[in-house]
Amino acid sequence: MLQENFLTPAQIVAELDKYIIGQHEAKRHVAIALRNRWRRLHAPADMQAEIVPNNILMIGATGVGKTEIARRLAHLADAPFVKVEASKFTEVGYVGRDVESMVRDLAEQSVNRVRQRRQEEVKAQAAQAVEDLILDALIPPLRAPSKDGGAGRVNVGFSGSSENIVGDALPTSDQELNERTRERFRQKIRDGEMEDRHIEIQVAQAGPSVGVMGAPGMDEAALSGLQEMLGNMLPKKSRKRKVTVAEARKILLDEEAAKLVDMDEVKDEAIRQAENAGIIFIDEIDKVATSGGGKNGGPDVSRQGVQRDLLPIVEGSAVSTKYGIVNTDHILFIAAGAFHVSKPSDLIPELQGRFPIRVELQSLTKDDFYRILKDPKNALTKQYEALLQAEEVELTFDDAALERVAQIAFEVNAEVENIGARRLHTVMSRLLNDLLFDVPDKIGPQARIQITAELVEERLASMVKNRDLSQYIL
Ligand SMILES: Nc1ncnc2c1ncn2[C@@H]1O[C@H](COP(=O)(O)OP(=O)(O)O)[C@@H](O)[C@H]1O
Ligand SMILES: [Mg+2]
Repeated sequence: MLQENFLTPAQIVAELDKYIIGQHEAKRHVAIALRNRWRRLHAPADMQAEIVPNNILMIGATGVGKTEIARRLAHLADAPFVKVEASKFTEVGYVGRDVESMVRDLAEQSVNRVRQRRQEEVKAQAAQAVEDLILDALIPPLRAPSKDGGAGRVNVGFSGSSENIVGDALPTSDQELNERTRERFRQKIRDGEMEDRHIEIQVAQAGPSVGVMGAPGMDEAALSGLQEMLGNMLPKKSRKRKVTVAEARKILLDEEAAKLVDMDEVKDEAIRQAENAGIIFIDEIDKVATSGGGKNGGPDVSRQGVQRDLLPIVEGSAVSTKYGIVNTDHILFIAAGAFHVSKPSDLIPELQGRFPIRVELQSLTKDDFYRILKDPKNALTKQYEALLQAEEVELTFDDAALERVAQIAFEVNAEVENIGARRLHTVMSRLLNDLLFDVPDKIGPQARIQITAELVEERLASMVKNRDLSQYIL
């Protein structure tokens, strides 16, 4: 996000185009919002605090790409991202309680991202340390590096030896011999010759989890903070395990990498990223809008309650998480809903005001369906082709077949229920299921399967005509 050559709006749209068909308006708006965050971070410091994000409200039927756009956007932005469903917060026991959890989830996500990245950075260093540990387990060094002249350290995995050998007492030749053997084994390890050899290693064990009962009213962040603190006070346990060198490397690499990472720095950076680059996607916002203006009591009241709880978070407030306080002022919120029953104007005015950008997503046409099947980088046809490629079976789709699939999906949507592009998943899986079962038992490797329009017709047409059938099967 802070790099110099961050994507321009046009480039962001071009990237989104690789995955999402149509929805040009929505793409333009999210592209501007994303570029604006970069612009803000390059603005004079005193202005940065003033510039608040223009949150976006996406309005569109189910399955037209709302979530997909937000998800791809977060990926492009390389930003922490969480998706929540507003309707979840109206469930019994949730009202007014835990809307803040979305910010805690964002912090968690951000910490994981930063931690992973840092571990990646120290990987080479960790690998070196792991090699030494494996070597120690295979050929314990004779001479303990004890500078104070005291007893050498006990060598892990030096089975059968109870004595510690004080280095000085040994003749040089033994040390040299040991050293040479170790170097020979180091080479063997590097050449991959030792992978199946069994060694004994010390592995950290998750400490006994500390149960802390929260006092009523105690917030979750404080509770988990307390838990972590108590956990850290207990001695860390480790135990010996006999594993192959290959397994040892896997286990130890994570541990060593974790040791090399400064968790305080990770937390600070993670919070900074969550605050300045974080994206929270609030789905089903329409489900907490109330067409009755909140005077109906019951569910309407609880829905309005959720909106009121959302308000401070979207307006900007400080939320305590177990990694520290997260300020929500500059988090980008993208809300989405179908708004079939309620309208955006049924949201409380303050909340409406916090989503100044409204975009309507278009219903997808038959032609869009056809392109969705074919064009996106992760298009369904490409996914199925790759699946069968793994079996060395070549799968191809005729254009006419895809046109027919698109049409069928479109018709079933109109007849049964409109679930947008999701229908393509059900139709395609119905079309290909038998085939997926028969490979490789009946249809062996090197086979070539061509999906033709006739085949689509044969497998699906009868179901489409029978409304009851399509309701259950497609
Ligand atoms: N415009 C589109 N282009 C490509 N794929 C789409 C499009 N709209 C929906 N899809 C696909 O349909 C599925 C549901 O889309 P999603 O974005 O979750 O819908 P919603 O609008 O309900 O959030 C996903 O697999 C998504 O990739
Ligand atoms: Mg969705």
